[in-house]
Amino acid sequence: MQKLNIGLFGFGIVGEGIYKVLEEKPQLNANIKKIVIKDAQKKRNAPSELFFTDPNSILEDPEINVVVELISDADVAYHIIKKAFQNGKHVVSANKKVIAEHHVELLELQEKNKVSFLYEASVCGSVPIIRNLEEYFDNDLLNYVSGIVNGTTNYILTKMAQENSSYQEALKSAQVNGFAEADPTADVEGFDAAHKLSIVTLHAFGTTIDSLQVIRKGITALQEKDFVYAKEKGFAIKLIANTKIIKETNELQATVLPTFVRLDQTIALVNNEYNGVLIGSSLSDEQFLYGKGAGRYPTSSALLSDISALQYDYKYEVRKKLDQPLIYNQNGYRKIYIGSKFSLEFITNKLEHIEERFDGAGYHYIIGKISFDELKKEDFIHHPQLSIIVFE
Ligand code: HSE
Repeated sequence: MQKLNIGLFGFGIVGEGIYKVLEEKPQLNANIKKIVIKDAQKKRNAPSELFFTDPNSILEDPEINVVVELISDADVAYHIIKKAFQNGKHVVSANKKVIAEHHVELLELQEKNKVSFLYEASVCGSVPIIRNLEEYFDNDLLNYVSGIVNGTTNYILTKMAQENSSYQEALKSAQVNGFAEADPTADVEGFDAAHKLSIVTLHAFGTTIDSLQVIRKGITALQEKDFVYAKEKGFAIKLIANTKIIKETNELQATVLPTFVRLDQTIALVNNEYNGVLIGSSLSDEQFLYGKGAGRYPTSSALLSDISALQYDYKYEVRKKLDQPLIYNQNGYRKIYIGSKFSLEFITNKLEHIEERFDGAGYHYIIGKISFDELKKEDFIHHPQLSIIVFE
């Protein structure tokens, strides 16, 4: 078992978590030698001699063989990861934005530099989704991976639906609990989920997708009336990330959208900061992974698993990787609910088929079928006064 000398970048919620966890696990043969932080003045719960502000104090230290990267600035993180590889260090990261944006390049660099790049903590916190896709489903023909991959939004939606909390109260509580990103826009507008979906798609189907091309809508436009509608009709509203192969055309659909989920469905039982992912396979039909998706210790659990995997030289092989990426989000339809305080007359022409319509005082909704071409138009999907919720 090789001795792991770790250089840690970032000492926020998760950084401090993994520091404490490793302190309590001397049997792992892994110790944190140095920690690089941005703000030298801030009081930290660790000996001061561990802290440095110059990244090179870790990157140029020949005794450090593992970099654990947990910082929020994606551009800085990208350069740190690349330099760590060049200097022969393994990297464990929880940085979904960097990975989604440079996934293939970083995997190629780990090969070139003969090191490992592990990032289970970047998707669904403690839920071992990447390791399962890599090791268990590596030969299985998968049809879809779908579910709740962001703890903050699930926490907010749960509090709004079950405790009548306001959006602001629920967001504040998610921040206090350490679930939200430094800038929670990434969570509530669905960017974080889109990054995770992009990472999962490469491991599930071997194809790359640009997270900016994921058909994405967050939860900020949802109104109280939408929750009343959901309750009356027996639905929960969940932010569902879905990556799915359309068999007939071998095309991929990749969406992050508020979704009505029937209350008797497994996903409807995933509440608060928990994440839950359904894996649809030709052989096993459907499997479900469930666990805490955000927070100090759940994320540290995934980091710990990656750090200990380094001791036996584990690395992702992405055996399914295709030479040519699949086409995605070109064709497709969804059944959709559009709700608003205002008349919806101006959008009726977007729907190909209208199934139901309601016009009341200060609340209107329309349910129908919409093509991906219409759904993904920026001025529609990101219209601040339209609640857009799709049906499963
Ligand atoms: N902000 C993220 C979430 C943290 O809420 O899911 C875990 O990736």
